[in-house]
Amino acid sequence: MFLRLAVVVGLASVGLCATYGTIKDIPNIKWDFIIAGGGTAGSVLASRLTENPSFNVLVIEAGPTNEGVEESIIPGLMPRAALSRYDWNFTTVPQEGLNGNSITFQRGHILGGSSSVNGMVYTRGPASDYERLARVSGDDGWSWENIQSYLKKNEKLEPPADNHDVDGEFDPAVHSLTGKVAVTLPNNLNPALDAAILQASKELGGDFQLTPDMNSGKPLGLGWLQLTIGHNGTRSSSATSYLDSQTKARKNLHIVTDTFVTRVLKTPGTKGLTIRSVEIRSPDTSDTVVLTASKEVIVAGGTIGTPHILLHSGIGDQRDLKMLNIETVLHNPSVGKNFTDHPAFFLPFSLAPNSIDLGPWVNLNTDPALQAQALELWNTNRTGPYLEPTPTHHLAFLRLPDNSSIIKQFGDLSSGQESAHIEIMLGVSGGTYIAVPIVVSPTSRGSITIGSNNPFDNPLIDPGYYTSKFDILAIREGIKSAVQFSEAPVWKNVITGLVGPLANATTDAEIDTTIRNNTLSGLHPVGTSAMSPKNASWGVVDPDLLVKHVSGLRIVDASVLPYIPCAHAQVPVYVVAERAADMIMRKWHA
Ligand SMILES: Cc1cc2nc3c(=O)[nH]c(=O)nc-3n(C[C@H](O)[C@H](O)[C@H](O)COP(=O)(O)OP(=O)(O)OC[C@H]3O[C@@H](n4cnc5c(N)ncnc54)[C@H](O)[C@@H]3O)c2cc1C
Ligand SMILES: *[C@@H]1O[C@H](CO)[C@@H](O)[C@H](O)[C@H]1NC(C)=O
Ligand SMILES: *[C@@H]1O[C@H](CO)[C@@H](O)[C@H](O)[C@H]1NC(C)=O
Ligand SMILES: *[C@@H]1O[C@H](CO)[C@@H](O)[C@H](O)[C@H]1NC(C)=O
Ligand SMILES: *[C@@H]1O[C@H](CO)[C@@H](O)[C@H](O)[C@H]1NC(C)=O
Ligand SMILES: *[C@@H]1O[C@H](CO)[C@@H](O)[C@H](O)[C@H]1NC(C)=O
Ligand SMILES: *[C@@H]1O[C@H](CO)[C@@H](O)[C@H](O)[C@H]1NC(C)=O
Ligand SMILES: *[C@@H]1O[C@H](CO)[C@@H](O)[C@H](O)[C@H]1NC(C)=O
Ligand SMILES: *[C@@H]1O[C@H](CO)[C@@H](O)[C@H](O)[C@H]1NC(C)=O
Repeated sequence: MFLRLAVVVGLASVGLCATYGTIKDIPNIKWDFIIAGGGTAGSVLASRLTENPSFNVLVIEAGPTNEGVEESIIPGLMPRAALSRYDWNFTTVPQEGLNGNSITFQRGHILGGSSSVNGMVYTRGPASDYERLARVSGDDGWSWENIQSYLKKNEKLEPPADNHDVDGEFDPAVHSLTGKVAVTLPNNLNPALDAAILQASKELGGDFQLTPDMNSGKPLGLGWLQLTIGHNGTRSSSATSYLDSQTKARKNLHIVTDTFVTRVLKTPGTKGLTIRSVEIRSPDTSDTVVLTASKEVIVAGGTIGTPHILLHSGIGDQRDLKMLNIETVLHNPSVGKNFTDHPAFFLPFSLAPNSIDLGPWVNLNTDPALQAQALELWNTNRTGPYLEPTPTHHLAFLRLPDNSSIIKQFGDLSSGQESAHIEIMLGVSGGTYIAVPIVVSPTSRGSITIGSNNPFDNPLIDPGYYTSKFDILAIREGIKSAVQFSEAPVWKNVITGLVGPLANATTDAEIDTTIRNNTLSGLHPVGTSAMSPKNASWGVVDPDLLVKHVSGLRIVDASVLPYIPCAHAQVPVYVVAERAADMIMRKWHA
């Protein structure tokens, strides 16, 4: 069955693209644009910029190709990409707010970047997030109204693989059928659980009221999940959608994988501070090559990779750079700062035996025979549990009440009245009902720094979880709300109670320690190359994403977002990348 898949995938891509696996195969061409990082945003840019046949574009990606990679293609195999060659295998520095513990921090190390390994949740976030971005950056082009065209160019809504009736689960009026990335509603894999969750929503109402569509710009309430998966039951990543076979057939698109960008460099023979050159290396050799773009170098290494590249290039706080013997090319203390992520907490609940029909796949995670069967079904006719990454079909976005003591003390840190402070993911796993509260309006800030002048050393990742009091109080409210949801009448005699580490914590101190010791990353970091108004005294890029005080260098990825979206981050990144492509095409239109 592995073979069958390999053949299908292989045929689709045979001999079309100029994709290289080593530096020495890169042709000697006059590059118009060089894109450092072939991830979520980088792949969008590669696709859009090569729509103009006169632009020669080179993409440099540290990871391998996504083609034929089952962990990426098959949604249900997504967990297997963690700690594999498709992951950067990062770990945070010890977190003061997590009792000194370090936690893993997954990032895609593969063409398509994190979109090739992520959980495929499709959330745009509230309209007010984009209004805030427009306000903070001073550029109205980022407003909700003005980014609608980019959402349209990005999304292609498709029926779920099982073709079941999804009427009433979403609002067709707010979706696009004409974009690149396939989006679907979940399959009818767990009807009893879906029905119980909807019943609980009806019973509790209020904060848990059903929302017609969480992607309408008004996400509050409980809604059906949408996923970046195609009708054919395969992941739709930035690589599969924007770098499809037609795009890859373009003679002006060149992609080199397994190649590391060590630095961006001042371009010889240019005036002022012009940075249009990149230094690249294969991880397993000491070969170093410098390539120059005639128009722009675009760094798209992500919230961790981008400041890593900038700092090694001498773009950062000169005091820190000096200590590492890195010559300062541009002093900018904002580089790597304001790192912001969503903290998340897994809350498992036990279910009474036979109280709810969870179907035949309950033990999928632990039973190799079921896994083989699931793979067989996916391969033969795209059925079975591997059509989806995790058994989550609903999310709830909630606000802390205006009169809550937390809001009174800290103010409202969300982007507006129709944004949330808390998200709760709902689902089952291995016969356990799971709620995952996430703080989606966190106030803690961290940083990306470097600990040496060797670009192959991992950067120091400090998310700063719970260093602000608001965040720990908010996660506690999220946990309370999740417990409240589990107490809806429909769950009587079904959910028997909390299990897991929090179950035995009784005192306030025990609860606090348990939360801090078991918090995970929401994996949505932003902010390390933040966008700010032109002339602002802080920030790394202007609202057009050009690096301040430099010519020729642009940054396009999650790192430019100054505030973390109240959303899983991929759609905001697609919006940033589509608008950036538009701005670049306009600027260089012959
Ligand atoms: C496991 C996981 C689950 C997630 N789940 C979801 C979800 O369900 N829904 C959602 O919306 N979001 C999710 N996210 C977050 C979302 O995927 C990311 O926010 C988004 O993809 C980031 O896009 P980006 O372009 O900024 O960075 P990336 O997509 O990470 O791209 C950066 C690229 O640059 C490359 N790179 C970095 N440094 C270098 C270098 N020095 N040289 C060459 N190449 C380099 C990387 O290998 C990578 O390909 C998840 C993320 C992860 C990791
Ligand atoms: C991550 O760790 C796994 C397991 O140790 C390893 O196989 C893989 O190569 C590592 N990834 C990278 C990019 O080094
Ligand atoms: C599956 O569908 C997606 C989205 O429509 C498409 O990009 C992809 O090429 C398809 N994959 C296969 C293997 O058919
Ligand atoms: C962090 O972001 C805030 C705006 O949210 C800004 O005022 C501050 O200057 C930034 N800090 C740095 C070091 O860039
Ligand atoms: C898919 O294949 C399985 C195994 O061959 C079969 O039992 C099932 O009926 C098929 N389902 C559909 C929808 O074709
Ligand atoms: C907040 O207001 C609600 C409804 O108006 C009320 O039930 C609740 O007790 C109030 N909470 C606090 C902390 O004042
Ligand atoms: C909680 O306590 C019970 C009873 O002492 C014990 O069986 C269980 O293992 C504990 N759970 C955890 C997660 O520590
Ligand atoms: C919490 O983590 C710290 C640091 O690893 C450890 O010393 C402590 O025992 C943990 N406490 C609990 C209750 O897990
Ligand atoms: C930025 O500063 C320059 C020179 O001081 C000025 O000409 C320009 O109008 C300013 N731009 C903005 C957006 O304030």
